[in-house]
Amino acid sequence: MNAINQISDSDRYARCIQSSKRVRWDLDEDVIRGRRFDAAHKFLPDGLSLSDAFTTLSPDEKRFVSQIQGRTYANVFGLVERFINAKILELSRDYWLGDQVALEALVRFSDEELKHQALFRRIDTMVRDILPDGYRFDVDSDTVGRAVLGKSTWAVLALTLDIELFTQLHYLQSIKPDTELSELFKDVFLYHWKEESQHAILDELEWVRHDAGLTEEKRDRAVDEFIELVAAVDGILQAQAKADAGYFAAKCGRAVHDAEAQAIEAAFLKAYRWQYIHSGAQHARFGKVLSSLITEKQGQRIQSALATLQ
Ligand SMILES: [Fe+2]
Ligand SMILES: [Fe+2]
Repeated sequence: MNAINQISDSDRYARCIQSSKRVRWDLDEDVIRGRRFDAAHKFLPDGLSLSDAFTTLSPDEKRFVSQIQGRTYANVFGLVERFINAKILELSRDYWLGDQVALEALVRFSDEELKHQALFRRIDTMVRDILPDGYRFDVDSDTVGRAVLGKSTWAVLALTLDIELFTQLHYLQSIKPDTELSELFKDVFLYHWKEESQHAILDELEWVRHDAGLTEEKRDRAVDEFIELVAAVDGILQAQAKADAGYFAAKCGRAVHDAEAQAIEAAFLKAYRWQYIHSGAQHARFGKVLSSLITEKQGQRIQSALATLQ
């Protein structure tokens, strides 16, 4: 890395600190503000819930689907932010002695991710209060975190950048005018995005820094591990699509027969793959950074793995 890049990188850590201080929000005072959810509102925008994919459902049923997906959204973020935070704390060790600006940027990142986990736990509880009993999310954040952190740092940072970039796209989806969308859920997207914007910059800086120390062999192995992580995410999404489709069928107030139940499960999975895999993988910034680090052949390996998740 030349001197100019070093200056601009350290400037980027400093700017992340400034932005983090400027946008910092409080869970109760800024986001929740004493509000409750209302079952008359959609929680996820149509562009994320892929409401058009649920072809057999009425508008009211599609709204119920968006509420189930909203609760799952809170749970999935609570899950991924556990390992993201642990990885950031691990990386911060490189700066304990030395670059105190980079250290502060990562410490703030970690502090924000702890707050986001609290936010998503709160959202899960608040949605639980207004939806019928029987919803399940049986994935343990610590168990998943241990498995993810067993992979190389390169692979974990690739997945992390992917995730933190797609939160920005999710925010953009939610600001489209939609009079039926919950104002509180819109704010969840807005406030989360405000802090995630800095995280995505820091992920990229740390990923590129870490990549520079890898041999070609290690990077090649890390590409496979990234593919394994995406497949593991997909395994979680498949199980949750099944659980959420089953919950919908049990609670929607009418009989759902086998063929329709299968179509509903497929639509849930399509929406979850869009939300948690493809919206990040197709993000222009993610593609740009990834392709700057890997060979064309490695890129093809990733693309063909992603193509199996359609
Ligand atoms: Fe977050
Ligand atoms: Fe984040």
